[in-house]
Amino acid sequence: MLLLNINLKAQSKAPNYSSFYPGEIWKDTDGNHINAHGGGIMFKDGTYYWYGEHKGKSSLARVGITVYSSKDLYNWENEGVALSVAKDPDSEITSGSVMERPKVVFNEKTGQYVMWFHLELKGQGYAAARTGVAVSDSPTGPFTYLKSYRPNSGKWPKNFKEAWKETPKGGDPEDWWTPKWRKALNEGMFVRRDFEKGQMSRDMTIYIDTDGIAYHITSSEENQTLHISKLTDDYLNFTGEWVRVQPGGQNEAPAVFERDGYYYMITSGLTGWEPNAARSFRAKSIMGPWEKLGNPARGKYADKTFFSQSTFILPVQGKEDEFIFMADRWKPKNHIDGRYIWLPLEWENEKPVIRWKDNWAL
Ligand code: GAL
Repeated sequence: MLLLNINLKAQSKAPNYSSFYPGEIWKDTDGNHINAHGGGIMFKDGTYYWYGEHKGKSSLARVGITVYSSKDLYNWENEGVALSVAKDPDSEITSGSVMERPKVVFNEKTGQYVMWFHLELKGQGYAAARTGVAVSDSPTGPFTYLKSYRPNSGKWPKNFKEAWKETPKGGDPEDWWTPKWRKALNEGMFVRRDFEKGQMSRDMTIYIDTDGIAYHITSSEENQTLHISKLTDDYLNFTGEWVRVQPGGQNEAPAVFERDGYYYMITSGLTGWEPNAARSFRAKSIMGPWEKLGNPARGKYADKTFFSQSTFILPVQGKEDEFIFMADRWKPKNHIDGRYIWLPLEWENEKPVIRWKDNWAL
């Protein structure tokens, strides 16, 4: 009997992967489909840590942010819940809130692991548009929730005209999508509206520059414009130094990386859980200006980014010039079945491109 049990357990174990299978069920070392959606990866002391949204059938946070570890990027061990939803119904991260796109970075100065994530308050849909921060002394947590922000309250962006700081005579247009509305949006209507209470923050990522400075990159202004903000040295707060990127460009799901003195960003368009064509950008400085490079996807279903949405770009350690494009294939009818689309970044005329692969290895 005992022997049989051991055998059964062994059978449910994951295969020992030596390559990636984008879009397939991806089992952890216990044999369960990895539950770390909208994720990001941190590398520390020879180990990769993958943080992501734990999802059930619905996408509301009932468990929190999970963490998995791996040495080879193929085989992942479930390290449990890094940041748990709170039992306290008054907590901002209570069960039933929305906790998305977690990104963890290590702060060399404080020795702390810092997690940022998109936070929506329970029962408010996506109206709160906040960004939350948590800390831990260990990469696997438990993380302690600190607070959430509407970023850059009372601070104008660096690339903002003096004239835009005042609401035009006659007020801002109320009807959306008209040419007037687009012009007002470009000229900072939502920045003005949210100046006191802080700017909206939905899909986001964190990028640590080569000099150790951290940047918070987020979809703001009703998801119409990206905001890139410099964080404080402890990575826990906003400095008030920030820029708007691609006003009215409707970019979400930002993922940033650096290569040969250029910063690159891959984003998606704005169609919720439905896939759309990815976009890519390049800049000499994180704070811009960012130049459009177009859809990085190539081949069949490039117009849908192979039915996925970007979440992170992972520089493979110890391999020069090897980056993995990480994306989610959402399953909004049963979120736990969401799939991971990891593809190698390739280069075409100095532009990052991605091509579908059923199976590939580093
Ligand atoms: C997507 C976004 C996801 C999630 C979803 C909710 O556009 O990228 O992270 O917020 O909308 O509809």
